[in-house]
Amino acid sequence: MTDQITTGPLTTEAGAPVADNQNSQSAGPGGPGLIQDQLLIEKLAHFNRERIPERIVHARGAGAYGTFTVTADLTKYTRAKFLSEIGKETEVFLRFSTVAGNLGAPDAVRDPRGFALKFYTEEGNYDLVGNNTPVFFIKDAIKFPDFIHTQKRDPYTGSQEADNVWDFWGLSPESTHQVTWLFGDRGIPASYRHMNGYGSHTFQWNNEAGEAFWVKYHFKTDQGIKTLTAQEAADLTGQDPDSHQRDLRTSIENGDFPTWTVQVQIMPVAEAATYRFNPFDLTKVWPHADYPPIEIGKLELNRNPQNIFAEVEQSIFSPHHFVPGIGPSPDKMLQGRLFAYGDAHRYRVGINADHLPVNRPHATEARSHGRDGFAYDGRHGGAKNYEPNSFGGPVQTDRPLWEPTAVTGYTGDHEAPSHAEDNDFVQAGALYRLMSDDEKDRLIENLAGFISQVSRDDIAERAIENFRKADEDYGKRLQAAVQALRG
Ligand code: NDP
Ligand code: HEM
Repeated sequence: MTDQITTGPLTTEAGAPVADNQNSQSAGPGGPGLIQDQLLIEKLAHFNRERIPERIVHARGAGAYGTFTVTADLTKYTRAKFLSEIGKETEVFLRFSTVAGNLGAPDAVRDPRGFALKFYTEEGNYDLVGNNTPVFFIKDAIKFPDFIHTQKRDPYTGSQEADNVWDFWGLSPESTHQVTWLFGDRGIPASYRHMNGYGSHTFQWNNEAGEAFWVKYHFKTDQGIKTLTAQEAADLTGQDPDSHQRDLRTSIENGDFPTWTVQVQIMPVAEAATYRFNPFDLTKVWPHADYPPIEIGKLELNRNPQNIFAEVEQSIFSPHHFVPGIGPSPDKMLQGRLFAYGDAHRYRVGINADHLPVNRPHATEARSHGRDGFAYDGRHGGAKNYEPNSFGGPVQTDRPLWEPTAVTGYTGDHEAPSHAEDNDFVQAGALYRLMSDDEKDRLIENLAGFISQVSRDDIAERAIENFRKADEDYGKRLQAAVQALRG
Protein backbone atom coordinates (compact mmCIF):
# COMPACT_ATOMS: atom_id res chain seq x y z
CA MET A 1 0.00 0.00 0.00
CA THR A 2 1.54 3.31 -1.05
CA ASP A 3 0.48 6.91 -0.56
CA GLN A 4 -1.43 8.19 -3.61
CA ILE A 5 -1.23 11.69 -5.05
CA THR A 6 -4.64 13.36 -4.57
CA THR A 7 -6.84 13.24 -7.66
CA GLY A 8 -7.27 16.34 -9.82
CA PRO A 9 -5.29 17.83 -12.67
CA LEU A 10 -1.58 17.12 -13.06
CA THR A 11 0.40 20.25 -12.14
CA THR A 12 3.86 21.78 -12.39
CA GLU A 13 6.01 21.88 -9.23
CA ALA A 14 4.44 25.28 -8.55
CA GLY A 15 0.92 23.85 -8.83
CA ALA A 16 -0.24 25.19 -12.21
CA PRO A 17 -2.34 22.73 -14.31
CA VAL A 18 -0.48 20.90 -17.08
CA ALA A 19 -2.16 20.79 -20.49
CA ASP A 20 0.06 18.21 -22.26
CA ASN A 21 2.53 15.90 -20.53
CA GLN A 22 3.23 13.81 -23.67
CA ASN A 23 4.35 16.36 -26.27
CA SER A 24 6.86 19.17 -25.68
CA GLN A 25 6.39 22.57 -27.29
CA SER A 26 8.07 23.35 -30.60
CA ALA A 27 8.04 26.07 -33.23
CA GLY A 28 5.58 24.38 -35.54
CA PRO A 29 5.00 20.58 -35.68
CA GLY A 30 8.50 19.81 -37.10
CA GLY A 31 10.42 22.74 -35.64
CA PRO A 32 12.91 23.18 -32.73
CA GLY A 33 11.93 23.46 -29.03
CA LEU A 34 10.85 26.61 -27.25
CA ILE A 35 12.36 28.13 -24.10
CA GLN A 36 8.85 29.03 -22.99
CA ASP A 37 8.23 25.29 -22.46
CA GLN A 38 9.06 25.50 -18.76
CA LEU A 39 7.35 22.15 -18.06
CA LEU A 40 9.96 20.35 -20.20
CA ILE A 41 12.78 22.37 -18.64
CA GLU A 42 11.50 21.80 -15.10
CA LYS A 43 11.16 18.04 -15.67
CA LEU A 44 14.64 17.64 -17.18
CA ALA A 45 16.25 19.87 -14.53
CA HIS A 46 14.57 18.00 -11.68
CA PHE A 47 15.60 14.67 -13.15
CA ASN A 48 19.25 15.78 -13.34
CA ARG A 49 19.21 16.43 -9.60
CA GLU A 50 17.48 13.23 -8.46
CA ARG A 51 20.62 11.69 -6.98
CA ILE A 52 22.56 12.77 -3.92
CA PRO A 53 26.04 11.45 -3.16
CA GLU A 54 25.83 7.84 -2.04
CA ARG A 55 27.23 6.87 1.35
CA ILE A 56 31.02 6.43 1.04
CA VAL A 57 30.55 3.09 2.82
CA HIS A 58 27.33 1.12 3.43
CA ALA A 59 25.83 2.61 0.24
CA ARG A 60 23.62 -0.40 -0.47
CA GLY A 61 20.92 -1.03 2.12
CA ALA A 62 17.31 -1.53 3.11
CA GLY A 63 15.31 -0.29 6.07
CA ALA A 64 12.15 -0.78 8.11
CA TYR A 65 10.34 0.74 11.07
CA GLY A 66 9.40 -1.15 14.19
CA THR A 67 9.20 -1.22 17.94
CA PHE A 68 11.64 -1.77 20.79
CA THR A 69 10.08 -3.10 24.00
CA VAL A 70 11.88 -3.17 27.36
CA THR A 71 11.77 -6.54 29.16
CA ALA A 72 13.97 -5.90 32.23
CA ASP A 73 14.37 -3.33 35.00
CA LEU A 74 17.42 -1.33 33.95
CA THR A 75 17.05 1.69 36.23
CA LYS A 76 20.07 0.72 38.34
CA TYR A 77 22.24 0.96 35.19
CA THR A 78 20.79 3.81 33.11
CA ARG A 79 18.48 6.80 33.48
CA ALA A 80 17.58 6.75 29.75
CA LYS A 81 13.80 7.25 29.78
CA PHE A 82 13.09 4.86 26.92
CA LEU A 83 14.67 2.10 29.03
CA SER A 84 12.97 3.12 32.27
CA GLU A 85 10.11 0.60 32.58
CA ILE A 86 9.37 -3.00 31.72
CA GLY A 87 6.88 -3.02 28.83
CA LYS A 88 7.80 0.46 27.59
CA GLU A 89 7.72 0.70 23.77
CA THR A 90 9.77 2.99 21.54
CA GLU A 91 9.43 3.44 17.79
CA VAL A 92 12.58 2.54 15.83
CA PHE A 93 13.93 2.66 12.28
CA LEU A 94 16.58 0.12 11.29
CA ARG A 95 18.72 0.32 8.15
CA PHE A 96 20.65 -2.79 7.13
CA SER A 97 23.48 -2.54 4.60
CA THR A 98 26.55 -4.07 3.06
CA VAL A 99 29.80 -2.13 3.46
CA ALA A 100 31.99 -2.07 0.39
CA GLY A 101 29.57 -2.19 -2.55
CA ASN A 102 28.20 0.83 -4.35
CA LEU A 103 24.50 1.71 -4.41
CA GLY A 104 23.62 -0.83 -7.12
CA ALA A 105 25.72 -3.69 -5.73
CA PRO A 106 24.11 -7.10 -5.06
CA ASP A 107 22.99 -7.99 -1.54
CA ALA A 108 24.22 -11.57 -1.11
CA VAL A 109 27.96 -10.91 -0.92
CA ARG A 110 30.66 -11.69 1.62
CA ASP A 111 30.85 -8.46 3.60
CA PRO A 112 29.90 -7.31 7.09
CA ARG A 113 26.31 -6.04 7.32
CA GLY A 114 25.42 -2.67 8.83
CA PHE A 115 22.80 -2.74 11.60
CA ALA A 116 21.96 0.96 12.12
CA LEU A 117 19.18 1.51 14.61
CA LYS A 118 17.42 4.77 15.43
CA PHE A 119 15.33 4.89 18.62
CA TYR A 120 12.82 7.77 18.48
CA THR A 121 12.85 8.42 22.24
CA GLU A 122 11.07 11.13 24.22
CA GLU A 123 14.48 12.58 25.06
CA GLY A 124 15.61 12.78 21.43
CA ASN A 125 16.81 10.26 18.89
CA TYR A 126 19.32 7.66 20.04
CA ASP A 127 21.30 6.04 17.21
CA LEU A 128 23.15 2.77 17.66
CA VAL A 129 25.12 2.39 14.44
CA GLY A 130 26.38 -1.18 14.62
CA ASN A 131 27.20 -4.16 12.43
CA ASN A 132 26.32 -7.86 12.35
CA THR A 133 29.77 -8.57 13.81
CA PRO A 134 30.85 -7.95 17.41
CA VAL A 135 34.33 -6.77 16.35
CA PHE A 136 35.99 -4.78 13.56
CA PHE A 137 39.11 -4.96 11.34
CA ILE A 138 41.03 -2.09 12.97
CA LYS A 139 41.14 -0.34 16.33
CA ASP A 140 42.05 3.26 15.48
CA ALA A 141 39.94 5.64 13.36
CA ILE A 142 43.06 7.03 11.70
CA LYS A 143 43.35 3.75 9.73
CA PHE A 144 39.74 3.73 8.46
CA PRO A 145 40.18 5.65 5.17
CA ASP A 146 43.20 3.45 4.24
CA PHE A 147 41.31 0.29 5.13
CA ILE A 148 38.27 1.28 3.08
CA HIS A 149 40.47 2.22 0.10
CA THR A 150 41.63 -1.42 0.02
CA GLN A 151 38.03 -2.66 0.00
CA LYS A 152 36.88 -0.29 -2.74
CA ARG A 153 37.98 -0.07 -6.37
CA ASP A 154 41.69 0.28 -7.14
CA PRO A 155 42.54 3.68 -8.68
CA TYR A 156 44.21 2.04 -11.70
CA THR A 157 42.23 -1.15 -12.39
CA GLY A 158 38.83 0.15 -11.26
CA SER A 159 38.15 -3.17 -9.46
CA GLN A 160 38.60 -4.49 -5.94
CA GLU A 161 42.08 -6.04 -5.88
CA ALA A 162 43.18 -9.05 -3.82
CA ASP A 163 46.65 -7.49 -3.56
CA ASN A 164 45.34 -4.39 -1.80
CA VAL A 165 43.01 -6.29 0.53
CA TRP A 166 45.60 -8.85 1.67
CA ASP A 167 48.49 -6.39 1.75
CA PHE A 168 46.56 -4.22 4.22
CA TRP A 169 45.24 -7.11 6.31
CA GLY A 170 48.64 -8.82 6.41
CA LEU A 171 50.24 -5.58 7.60
CA SER A 172 47.39 -4.93 10.08
CA PRO A 173 47.38 -8.08 12.24
CA GLU A 174 44.64 -6.66 14.46
CA SER A 175 42.28 -7.53 11.56
CA THR A 176 42.82 -11.32 12.03
CA HIS A 177 39.80 -11.77 14.33
CA GLN A 178 37.30 -9.96 12.08
CA VAL A 179 38.72 -11.54 8.91
CA THR A 180 38.24 -15.00 10.45
CA TRP A 181 34.64 -14.06 11.24
CA LEU A 182 34.07 -12.70 7.72
CA PHE A 183 35.34 -15.78 5.88
CA GLY A 184 33.44 -18.15 8.18
CA ASP A 185 29.83 -19.12 7.51
CA ARG A 186 28.39 -15.94 9.05
CA GLY A 187 30.24 -13.82 6.46
CA ILE A 188 27.29 -14.23 4.06
CA PRO A 189 23.94 -14.06 5.89
CA ALA A 190 21.00 -15.67 4.05
CA SER A 191 18.98 -12.51 4.74
CA TYR A 192 18.96 -9.47 7.00
CA ARG A 193 16.43 -11.31 9.19
CA HIS A 194 18.71 -14.26 9.80
CA MET A 195 21.67 -12.52 11.42
CA ASN A 196 22.56 -10.95 14.74
CA GLY A 197 23.34 -7.27 15.29
CA TYR A 198 25.93 -5.83 17.65
CA GLY A 199 26.63 -2.33 18.95
CA SER A 200 30.25 -3.58 18.69
CA HIS A 201 31.84 -0.71 20.65
CA THR A 202 31.70 -0.33 24.39
CA PHE A 203 29.35 2.47 25.49
CA GLN A 204 28.65 4.19 28.79
CA TRP A 205 25.40 3.84 30.66
CA ASN A 206 24.83 6.03 33.73
CA ASN A 207 22.05 5.98 36.30
CA GLU A 208 20.12 8.68 38.15
CA ALA A 209 22.69 8.66 40.99
CA GLY A 210 25.50 9.34 38.51
CA GLU A 211 27.07 5.86 38.61
CA ALA A 212 28.56 4.77 35.28
CA PHE A 213 28.82 1.31 33.66
CA TRP A 214 30.41 0.05 30.44
CA VAL A 215 28.01 -1.84 28.16
CA LYS A 216 28.02 -3.84 24.94
CA TYR A 217 24.81 -4.48 22.98
CA HIS A 218 23.80 -7.75 21.28
CA PHE A 219 20.73 -8.27 19.08
CA LYS A 220 20.17 -12.01 18.70
CA THR A 221 17.98 -12.99 15.78
CA ASP A 222 14.83 -14.92 16.74
CA GLN A 223 14.63 -16.24 13.16
CA GLY A 224 17.82 -18.27 13.77
CA ILE A 225 21.17 -17.76 12.09
CA LYS A 226 21.01 -18.75 8.40
CA THR A 227 23.90 -18.31 6.01
CA LEU A 228 24.79 -18.93 2.36
CA THR A 229 27.81 -20.80 1.07
CA ALA A 230 30.04 -18.97 -1.41
CA GLN A 231 28.44 -20.93 -4.27
CA GLU A 232 24.86 -20.32 -3.10
CA ALA A 233 25.63 -16.62 -2.81
CA ALA A 234 27.20 -16.47 -6.27
CA ASP A 235 24.07 -18.09 -7.74
CA LEU A 236 21.72 -15.80 -5.81
CA THR A 237 23.47 -12.54 -6.73
CA GLY A 238 22.98 -13.52 -10.39
CA GLN A 239 19.31 -14.46 -9.97
CA ASP A 240 18.22 -11.69 -7.60
CA PRO A 241 20.72 -8.93 -6.82
CA ASP A 242 18.17 -7.35 -4.43
CA SER A 243 17.54 -10.58 -2.48
CA HIS A 244 18.00 -9.19 1.05
CA GLN A 245 15.98 -6.04 0.41
CA ARG A 246 13.16 -8.09 -1.14
CA ASP A 247 13.17 -10.62 1.71
CA LEU A 248 12.83 -7.89 4.34
CA ARG A 249 10.06 -6.04 2.54
CA THR A 250 7.98 -9.10 1.67
CA SER A 251 8.25 -10.68 5.10
CA ILE A 252 6.90 -7.46 6.64
CA GLU A 253 4.18 -7.18 3.95
CA ASN A 254 3.15 -10.75 4.83
CA GLY A 255 2.90 -9.95 8.53
CA ASP A 256 5.88 -12.18 9.28
CA PHE A 257 7.60 -9.56 11.42
CA PRO A 258 11.27 -10.27 12.19
CA THR A 259 12.33 -9.95 15.84
CA TRP A 260 15.56 -9.85 17.79
CA THR A 261 16.17 -10.51 21.49
CA VAL A 262 18.23 -7.64 22.83
CA GLN A 263 20.96 -8.29 25.38
CA VAL A 264 23.69 -6.27 27.04
CA GLN A 265 26.93 -7.17 28.73
CA ILE A 266 27.61 -4.83 31.65
CA MET A 267 31.02 -4.10 33.17
CA PRO A 268 31.35 -2.00 36.34
CA VAL A 269 33.64 0.94 35.54
CA ALA A 270 36.09 -0.03 38.30
CA GLU A 271 36.85 -3.35 36.54
CA ALA A 272 37.90 -1.82 33.22
CA ALA A 273 41.50 -0.93 34.10
CA THR A 274 42.41 -4.45 35.21
CA TYR A 275 40.25 -6.53 32.84
CA ARG A 276 42.30 -9.12 30.93
CA PHE A 277 41.42 -7.48 27.59
CA ASN A 278 41.32 -3.77 26.86
CA PRO A 279 37.55 -3.26 27.07
CA PHE A 280 37.69 -0.41 24.55
CA ASP A 281 39.50 -2.37 21.84
CA LEU A 282 37.06 -2.90 18.95
CA THR A 283 38.95 -5.96 17.71
CA LYS A 284 38.01 -7.85 20.91
CA VAL A 285 34.83 -9.24 22.45
CA TRP A 286 34.16 -9.64 26.14
CA PRO A 287 33.89 -13.42 26.51
CA HIS A 288 30.44 -14.33 27.79
CA ALA A 289 31.94 -16.26 30.68
CA ASP A 290 33.39 -12.98 31.99
CA TYR A 291 30.33 -10.78 31.41
CA PRO A 292 27.21 -12.86 30.75
CA PRO A 293 24.71 -11.21 28.38
CA ILE A 294 21.55 -10.01 30.17
CA GLU A 295 18.26 -9.86 28.24
CA ILE A 296 16.84 -6.32 28.19
CA GLY A 297 14.30 -6.14 25.37
CA LYS A 298 12.69 -7.18 22.14
CA LEU A 299 13.09 -5.52 18.78
CA GLU A 300 10.42 -6.04 16.11
CA LEU A 301 10.33 -4.67 12.57
CA ASN A 302 6.76 -4.28 11.38
CA ARG A 303 6.39 -1.39 8.90
CA ASN A 304 7.96 -0.84 5.51
CA PRO A 305 9.07 2.59 4.35
CA GLN A 306 6.80 3.96 1.62
CA ASN A 307 9.48 5.83 -0.31
CA ILE A 308 12.98 4.35 -0.43
CA PHE A 309 14.71 7.59 -1.37
CA ALA A 310 13.04 9.75 1.28
CA GLU A 311 13.22 7.27 4.11
CA VAL A 312 16.20 4.99 3.42
CA GLU A 313 18.56 6.93 1.16
CA GLN A 314 18.12 10.16 3.11
CA SER A 315 18.12 8.52 6.52
CA ILE A 316 21.06 9.48 8.70
CA PHE A 317 22.45 7.63 11.72
CA SER A 318 25.18 8.95 13.92
CA PRO A 319 27.11 7.38 16.79
CA HIS A 320 27.09 10.86 18.41
CA HIS A 321 23.28 10.87 18.76
CA PHE A 322 23.06 9.99 22.46
CA VAL A 323 20.30 10.62 25.01
CA PRO A 324 20.57 11.27 28.78
CA GLY A 325 21.97 8.17 30.51
CA ILE A 326 24.00 6.92 27.51
CA GLY A 327 27.38 8.06 26.21
CA PRO A 328 30.61 7.09 24.47
CA SER A 329 33.63 5.19 25.75
CA PRO A 330 37.25 6.13 25.04
CA ASP A 331 37.40 3.52 22.19
CA LYS A 332 39.50 5.35 19.55
CA MET A 333 37.36 4.01 16.71
CA LEU A 334 34.20 5.29 18.35
CA GLN A 335 35.84 8.64 19.08
CA GLY A 336 36.63 9.06 15.35
CA ARG A 337 33.10 8.01 14.42
CA LEU A 338 31.61 10.66 16.71
CA PHE A 339 32.95 13.19 14.18
CA ALA A 340 32.75 11.26 10.89
CA TYR A 341 29.00 10.71 10.58
CA GLY A 342 27.68 14.23 11.22
CA ASP A 343 30.24 15.47 8.73
CA ALA A 344 29.15 12.88 6.15
CA HIS A 345 25.51 13.85 6.65
CA ARG A 346 26.18 17.55 6.16
CA TYR A 347 27.92 16.69 2.87
CA ARG A 348 25.53 13.99 1.67
CA VAL A 349 22.09 15.22 2.75
CA GLY A 350 22.78 18.80 3.82
CA ILE A 351 22.82 20.94 6.93
CA ASN A 352 19.10 20.39 7.58
CA ALA A 353 19.19 16.59 7.20
CA ASP A 354 17.89 16.33 10.79
CA HIS A 355 14.60 18.00 9.77
CA LEU A 356 13.52 15.24 7.37
CA PRO A 357 10.62 13.09 8.58
CA VAL A 358 12.71 9.91 8.96
CA ASN A 359 15.46 11.74 10.84
CA ARG A 360 13.69 14.17 13.13
CA PRO A 361 12.59 13.21 16.64
CA HIS A 362 9.15 11.53 16.62
CA ALA A 363 8.50 11.44 20.37
CA THR A 364 9.70 14.97 21.19
CA GLU A 365 10.71 18.05 19.21
CA ALA A 366 14.15 19.50 18.49
CA ARG A 367 14.46 22.88 20.25
CA SER A 368 17.78 24.19 18.93
CA HIS A 369 18.67 27.68 17.77
CA GLY A 370 20.00 26.47 14.41
CA ARG A 371 18.17 28.19 11.55
CA ASP A 372 18.17 28.68 7.79
CA GLY A 373 20.44 26.93 5.24
CA PHE A 374 19.42 24.76 2.25
CA ALA A 375 16.03 23.07 2.63
CA TYR A 376 15.26 24.75 5.97
CA ASP A 377 11.69 23.77 6.80
CA GLY A 378 10.93 26.96 8.74
CA ARG A 379 10.75 25.17 12.07
CA HIS A 380 10.26 27.43 15.09
CA GLY A 381 8.83 30.14 12.81
CA GLY A 382 9.40 33.59 14.25
CA ALA A 383 10.66 32.43 17.67
CA LYS A 384 13.87 34.02 19.00
CA ASN A 385 16.94 32.22 17.61
CA TYR A 386 19.46 32.95 20.36
CA GLU A 387 20.15 32.01 23.95
CA PRO A 388 20.09 33.29 26.65
CA ASN A 389 16.88 35.18 25.89
CA SER A 390 14.18 36.69 28.07
CA PHE A 391 11.30 35.60 25.80
CA GLY A 392 10.74 32.17 27.31
CA GLY A 393 12.95 30.22 24.89
CA PRO A 394 14.34 26.74 25.63
CA VAL A 395 17.11 26.58 28.25
CA GLN A 396 20.05 24.31 29.02
CA THR A 397 19.57 21.48 31.55
CA ASP A 398 22.94 21.77 33.36
CA ARG A 399 23.30 17.95 33.36
CA PRO A 400 25.55 16.30 30.74
CA LEU A 401 24.15 13.22 28.97
CA TRP A 402 26.96 11.05 30.27
CA GLU A 403 29.35 10.97 33.22
CA PRO A 404 32.98 12.17 32.97
CA THR A 405 35.74 9.64 32.25
CA ALA A 406 39.05 9.70 34.17
CA VAL A 407 42.17 10.22 32.03
CA THR A 408 45.91 10.25 32.77
CA GLY A 409 49.13 11.01 30.88
CA TYR A 410 50.30 13.31 28.15
CA THR A 411 48.74 14.06 24.78
CA GLY A 412 50.37 12.23 21.84
CA ASP A 413 49.93 9.63 19.07
CA HIS A 414 49.33 6.77 21.50
CA GLU A 415 48.60 3.13 20.78
CA ALA A 416 45.66 1.92 22.87
CA PRO A 417 46.90 0.33 26.13
CA SER A 418 47.50 -3.41 26.02
CA HIS A 419 45.98 -5.43 28.87
CA ALA A 420 47.29 -8.70 30.36
CA GLU A 421 45.96 -11.10 27.69
CA ASP A 422 45.76 -8.72 24.74
CA ASN A 423 47.33 -9.60 21.46
CA ASP A 424 45.99 -9.52 17.90
CA PHE A 425 45.50 -13.28 17.64
CA VAL A 426 44.12 -14.80 20.82
CA GLN A 427 40.43 -14.21 20.06
CA ALA A 428 40.82 -15.07 16.37
CA GLY A 429 42.17 -18.43 17.53
CA ALA A 430 39.23 -18.85 19.94
CA LEU A 431 36.79 -18.20 17.10
CA TYR A 432 38.54 -20.70 14.82
CA ARG A 433 38.43 -23.38 17.49
CA LEU A 434 34.73 -22.67 18.16
CA MET A 435 33.83 -23.51 14.54
CA SER A 436 32.63 -26.99 13.56
CA ASP A 437 34.93 -29.12 11.36
CA ASP A 438 32.70 -28.41 8.35
CA GLU A 439 32.81 -24.66 8.92
CA LYS A 440 36.60 -24.81 9.32
CA ASP A 441 36.80 -26.55 5.92
CA ARG A 442 34.71 -23.81 4.30
CA LEU A 443 36.70 -21.08 6.10
CA ILE A 444 39.98 -22.45 4.72
CA GLU A 445 38.50 -22.82 1.24
CA ASN A 446 37.08 -19.26 1.24
CA LEU A 447 40.29 -17.70 2.51
CA ALA A 448 42.58 -19.73 0.26
CA GLY A 449 40.48 -18.92 -2.80
CA PHE A 450 40.97 -15.20 -2.19
CA ILE A 451 44.58 -15.19 -0.88
CA SER A 452 45.73 -17.28 -3.83
CA GLN A 453 44.73 -14.40 -6.15
CA VAL A 454 47.49 -12.07 -4.88
CA SER A 455 50.36 -11.34 -7.25
CA ARG A 456 53.24 -11.56 -4.75
CA ASP A 457 54.32 -14.40 -2.46
CA ASP A 458 55.34 -12.07 0.38
CA ILE A 459 51.80 -10.66 0.58
CA ALA A 460 50.31 -14.17 0.74
CA GLU A 461 52.87 -15.36 3.29
CA ARG A 462 52.38 -12.40 5.61
CA ALA A 463 48.60 -12.90 5.51
CA ILE A 464 48.90 -16.63 6.28
CA GLU A 465 51.36 -15.97 9.11
CA ASN A 466 48.71 -13.96 10.99
CA PHE A 467 46.31 -16.93 10.89
CA ARG A 468 49.11 -19.27 12.00
CA LYS A 469 49.71 -17.02 15.01
CA ALA A 470 46.00 -17.33 15.83
CA ASP A 471 46.11 -21.13 15.69
CA GLU A 472 48.86 -23.44 14.43
CA ASP A 473 46.42 -25.81 12.69
CA TYR A 474 44.57 -22.87 11.08
CA GLY A 475 47.83 -21.52 9.58
CA LYS A 476 49.07 -24.94 8.46
CA ARG A 477 45.87 -25.84 6.68
CA LEU A 478 45.63 -22.45 5.03
CA GLN A 479 49.19 -22.56 3.80
CA ALA A 480 48.63 -26.00 2.23
CA ALA A 481 45.39 -24.85 0.59
CA VAL A 482 46.96 -21.69 -0.84
CA GLN A 483 49.98 -23.64 -2.08
CA ALA A 484 47.72 -26.14 -3.81
CA LEU A 485 45.94 -23.32 -5.63
CA ARG A 486 49.05 -21.31 -6.52
CA GLY A 487 51.07 -24.34 -7.54
P1 NDP B 1 31.07 -17.77 24.01
O1 NDP B 1 30.83 -19.24 23.84
O2 NDP B 1 30.68 -17.17 25.27
O3 NDP B 1 30.35 -16.98 22.83
C1 NDP B 1 30.42 -17.47 21.57
C2 NDP B 1 29.62 -16.54 20.68
O4 NDP B 1 30.05 -16.87 19.37
C3 NDP B 1 28.14 -16.71 20.73
O5 NDP B 1 27.57 -15.42 20.83
C4 NDP B 1 27.77 -17.33 19.39
O6 NDP B 1 26.64 -16.71 18.84
C5 NDP B 1 28.94 -16.91 18.52
N1 NDP B 1 29.27 -17.90 17.50
C6 NDP B 1 29.06 -19.22 17.52
N2 NDP B 1 29.50 -19.77 16.37
C7 NDP B 1 29.98 -18.77 15.62
C8 NDP B 1 30.56 -18.69 14.33
N3 NDP B 1 30.72 -19.79 13.63
N4 NDP B 1 30.94 -17.51 13.85
C9 NDP B 1 30.78 -16.39 14.59
N5 NDP B 1 30.23 -16.39 15.84
C10 NDP B 1 29.85 -17.57 16.33
O7 NDP B 1 32.59 -17.56 23.72
P2 NDP B 1 33.44 -16.26 23.93
O8 NDP B 1 32.60 -15.15 24.45
O9 NDP B 1 34.66 -16.66 24.65
O10 NDP B 1 33.87 -15.94 22.44
C11 NDP B 1 34.61 -16.87 21.63
C12 NDP B 1 34.58 -16.34 20.23
O11 NDP B 1 33.21 -16.21 19.85
C13 NDP B 1 35.12 -14.91 20.17
O12 NDP B 1 36.49 -14.91 19.90
C14 NDP B 1 34.31 -14.28 19.11
O13 NDP B 1 34.96 -14.37 17.88
C15 NDP B 1 33.04 -15.08 19.02
N6 NDP B 1 31.90 -14.26 19.48
C16 NDP B 1 31.88 -13.76 20.75
C17 NDP B 1 30.90 -12.90 21.12
C18 NDP B 1 30.94 -12.26 22.47
O14 NDP B 1 30.26 -11.26 22.66
N7 NDP B 1 31.68 -12.81 23.41
C19 NDP B 1 29.81 -12.53 20.22
C20 NDP B 1 29.87 -13.18 18.90
C21 NDP B 1 30.93 -13.98 18.58
P3 NDP B 1 25.21 -17.51 18.78
O15 NDP B 1 24.82 -17.73 20.18
O16 NDP B 1 24.37 -16.55 18.05
O17 NDP B 1 25.47 -18.76 17.99
C1 HEM C 1 28.30 4.38 7.48
C2 HEM C 1 32.58 6.25 8.70
C3 HEM C 1 33.48 2.39 11.47
C4 HEM C 1 28.90 1.00 10.92
C5 HEM C 1 29.41 5.19 7.53
C6 HEM C 1 29.56 6.41 6.80
C7 HEM C 1 30.75 6.95 7.16
C8 HEM C 1 31.37 6.05 8.09
C9 HEM C 1 31.35 8.26 6.68
C10 HEM C 1 28.55 7.00 5.83
C11 HEM C 1 27.55 7.83 6.61
C12 HEM C 1 26.52 8.48 5.75
O1 HEM C 1 26.86 8.94 4.64
O2 HEM C 1 25.35 8.56 6.19
C13 HEM C 1 33.19 5.38 9.58
C14 HEM C 1 34.46 5.60 10.21
C15 HEM C 1 34.73 4.51 10.97
C16 HEM C 1 33.59 3.60 10.83
C17 HEM C 1 35.33 6.84 10.03
C18 HEM C 1 35.90 4.19 11.84
C19 HEM C 1 36.56 5.08 12.50
C20 HEM C 1 32.31 1.71 11.61
C21 HEM C 1 32.07 0.64 12.55
C22 HEM C 1 30.77 0.25 12.40
C23 HEM C 1 30.21 1.08 11.35
C24 HEM C 1 33.09 0.12 13.55
C25 HEM C 1 29.99 -0.79 13.14
C26 HEM C 1 30.30 -1.24 14.31
C27 HEM C 1 28.37 1.79 9.94
C28 HEM C 1 27.02 1.63 9.44
C29 HEM C 1 26.85 2.60 8.45
C30 HEM C 1 28.09 3.33 8.35
C31 HEM C 1 26.00 0.62 9.91
C32 HEM C 1 25.60 2.82 7.62
C33 HEM C 1 24.63 3.72 8.37
C34 HEM C 1 23.36 3.87 7.57
O3 HEM C 1 22.67 2.85 7.39
O4 HEM C 1 23.09 4.99 7.15
N1 HEM C 1 30.54 4.97 8.29
N2 HEM C 1 32.70 4.16 9.96
N3 HEM C 1 31.16 1.93 10.89
N4 HEM C 1 28.98 2.82 9.26
FE1 HEM C 1 30.82 3.49 9.61
